[in-house]
Order: sequence, then C-alpha cells, then structure tokens
Amino acid sequence: MDELTKTAPLANPACWLPFTANRAFLQQPRLLSRARGMYYWTPDERPILDGTAGLWCVNAGHCRPEISAAIAQQAAEMDFAPTFQIGHPLVFTLAKRLIQWMPPALNHVFFTNSGSESADTALKIARAYHFNRGEPERTLFIGREKAYHGVGFGGLSVGGLPRNKEAFGPLLEADFLPHTLDQSRNRFGQGLPEWGEDPALALGEIVRRHGAERIAAVIVEPVAGSAGVILPHRDYLRQLREACDTHGLLLIFDEVITGFGRLGTPFATDYFSVTPDLLTTAKGLTNAAVPMGAVFVSDAIYQSFMQGNDRGIELFHGYTYSGHPLACAAGLAALDIYEQEGLLTRGAELAPYFEKAIHSLHELPKVIDIRNIGMMAAIELESLPDAFGARGMAALQSAFDKGLLIRTTGDTIALSPPLIIQRDMIDEIADILHNVIGNLR
Ligand SMILES: Cc1ncc(COP(=O)(O)O)c(C=O)c1O
Repeated sequence: MDELTKTAPLANPACWLPFTANRAFLQQPRLLSRARGMYYWTPDERPILDGTAGLWCVNAGHCRPEISAAIAQQAAEMDFAPTFQIGHPLVFTLAKRLIQWMPPALNHVFFTNSGSESADTALKIARAYHFNRGEPERTLFIGREKAYHGVGFGGLSVGGLPRNKEAFGPLLEADFLPHTLDQSRNRFGQGLPEWGEDPALALGEIVRRHGAERIAAVIVEPVAGSAGVILPHRDYLRQLREACDTHGLLLIFDEVITGFGRLGTPFATDYFSVTPDLLTTAKGLTNAAVPMGAVFVSDAIYQSFMQGNDRGIELFHGYTYSGHPLACAAGLAALDIYEQEGLLTRGAELAPYFEKAIHSLHELPKVIDIRNIGMMAAIELESLPDAFGARGMAALQSAFDKGLLIRTTGDTIALSPPLIIQRDMIDEIADILHNVIGNLR
C-alpha cells in the first residue's frame, strides 16, 4: 500500500462508517491495512491477532491463496453474469456443494449478498409460501428479544435490539419471544445452560394473542451472536420446533454467525439436531472474501412454489448480484478449504481449550458473566454508572493497542476467532484480555 493510501483517508474523511461512533473514531482511528492467516497488520505494520474472524466471518483465516486465486481467475474469465432468466454454471455447482452440508430436507438455495438480505429473503419466502397456499393473512412474524437479523426493514422488524430500531419509524408487524439470557441461574456457566424456560409456553401465549392463522413464521438465531453470545438451554430449539409444528408455523434459523463451523459442527442445525424450514447464512460462506449470503429452503416450501399454477416467475424477488460469479468462485474455494482442513468441525476439538482459557478471566474485577459455545464466547463487563458501553469501547481500544482485535457490544466483549487458530494463540488472547480487563477503569 502506498503512503498516500495509508494516511490520506482520515485527513478529510468522506466515509461514514457503519455501526460506528464516527466522531470518536476520527479522534482515535483504528485502521487495518493487510491480513494473512490469524493476523491483521495496521498501516504502520503492527500485527493484530484476529480474535473475531473479522466480523464473525473469516473462518478459514485471512487471504487464503486458494480463494484469492479463484476470485482472480473468475474475474478474468467472466466478471459478472445475471441470474434473472439466465444462469451460469458456478451458481448451480455451489448450490449443490452447499446442500451436501445441510440436513436432507433443506435442499434448495436462494443466493443473496449479505445476512440482512438473507433474513429479508427468508421472511418474504415465508409470506409468499402462505400466500400461494391461499392463506395470505399469515403475515405476522415472531422474532425474539435481543435478536439481530441485520438491518433491512424485514430483519430489523424481527430483531430485538431496541436501539437498532428506534430511529426508523414503523416496521413490519412482529411479536417477540423472550430472550434466553438468565443470569440469575446461568451466570458463568460453561457451554449450554441446563436450565431455561420452554419456549412453547411463550409461543402458545403469542399464538393465543394473534391467532396462528395470522402468523407466517418464527425466526431465531440458534445462538444469539450480536447481542453478546446468548445461549439457549439444551432443549430450547427442539421445544421451539415442536411448538411451531403444533401451531403450523414455519421456523427460520438465522445461521449467519453459527453457520460454517462456528459451533464445532458445520451448522447449528447439526449441533442441536433440529431442522428448520428455512435457514439463512452469509459471512463464512465465502470466508468473507466476496460478499454473499444464501437462504436454504426446505423441499416442501420449494416444491410448493414449483407445483402451483405455472404463471412464469415463481418468486418476484432477487438481487442483481444474487449468485455473483466472483462470490461463487470464492464460495467454492472456501468450501474446498473447509472440507480439506476439516474446519467445519475443528471447533469441537478446540472448544474445551478455548472454554478454559476464556473462563480463566472469571476472577477479574468487573467481569460479571462469561458465556461460550464452540468457538464463540462473550465476556460481560460491569457497566460504568451512566456510561453504558464506555467500558466496552475502552476494552476494544486497549486490546487493539495491545495487538488483539475483539468485538464489543455495549460492555460485552465477543470473541469468535478464525477456526484455524492454534492453542498458543488462544493463550495469547486470554493473556491480552487479562491485561486489558485488569487495567480498565
Ligand atoms: C445473525 C445475523 N443475522 C444477520 C446479520 C446481518 O448480516 P450482514 O451484516 O451481512 O447484513 C448478522 C450480522 O452480524 C447476524 O449476526
């Protein structure tokens, strides 16, 4: 990178960063300019250990040469091809490869470009499914408190983080299951909590309130990521599946974070042995090298579209870049790596070591909870009075200064390192965090 590119951007910034305190950022910028394997480097060549796989997405580590080469080759061969009323082979190949990792029932794929688009696509497919079946009044969605399903109006409507919604006016009609964080019982628990409410009770209450015949679908993250790694109890998803079946509701899993090996199984559907009707992904799908998302759709739903009256286009939905050739090339190369290196299950081997390392922070003052599953974990810090989030930001800055990238949400530190991580790097993460948290105000 030349000197101008390294230093110029902040001189007269035109870029408005997403989900960022832009004014504070410009006072104290944090820049990354190159990456390889487990590390980023700052423009002044300081290595930063990646404790978050970028943003929960670079599961095979950075700048994998096989992926870079596949993208370059595809860019030279065919940069773009539309997928409206036309196609290209890669999009079919990738879909076939992907469904091999899914439960047999989820055997069709609709491509998007992000997790937000995947959420909105899944919600629209759910509504259109009911519409086609002659139940157009089924439009209500059930989300869950503290959920994050991206920032499109659909995903936002079913999301459960109030600050994400407060400025944006009326959204789609939705109701919400209670979140699953119970610190009175499960604080500092390791792995999945044994105890928790049966979601069937809350869902039954919601169904009584609105009528099942008005509800299109229930959407949950199997493990809530963005709100700070909030775990369901062991039986939660099975109970939720059964309750959805009882009331005739579709169930959508948002696996944008949990997909592609994060829990130590290929997907959360494997971890919990529960199959939803629709399953959304993005992030790890291409190892984040090119933006791409995918919605996996059950055979029953897909066939209902294909077997209705043939009026031409079955679903009036799609994106210019659905199945972009560069993203397909990156996705195929990423899958090769995941498969060859066993990365979709490697997390299971590392998880006990990771768990022990993260829970070693338990005794530090200001740490009020630690939660973990597979290769994701959260360390919740006590908030400063009247300054929610300040301690989290201080931790982010301090970790960055000490050579570690973490993610913070409010005062909770979230970790989700690339799945190629070695044990000594897990130790390094724990050591740096010891130092960071130990020195927080
Ligand atoms: C569970 C979940 N769904 C959806 C999204 C949105 O994905 P994107 O930022 O790619 O739109 C995210 C992003 O973190 C996520 O964690």
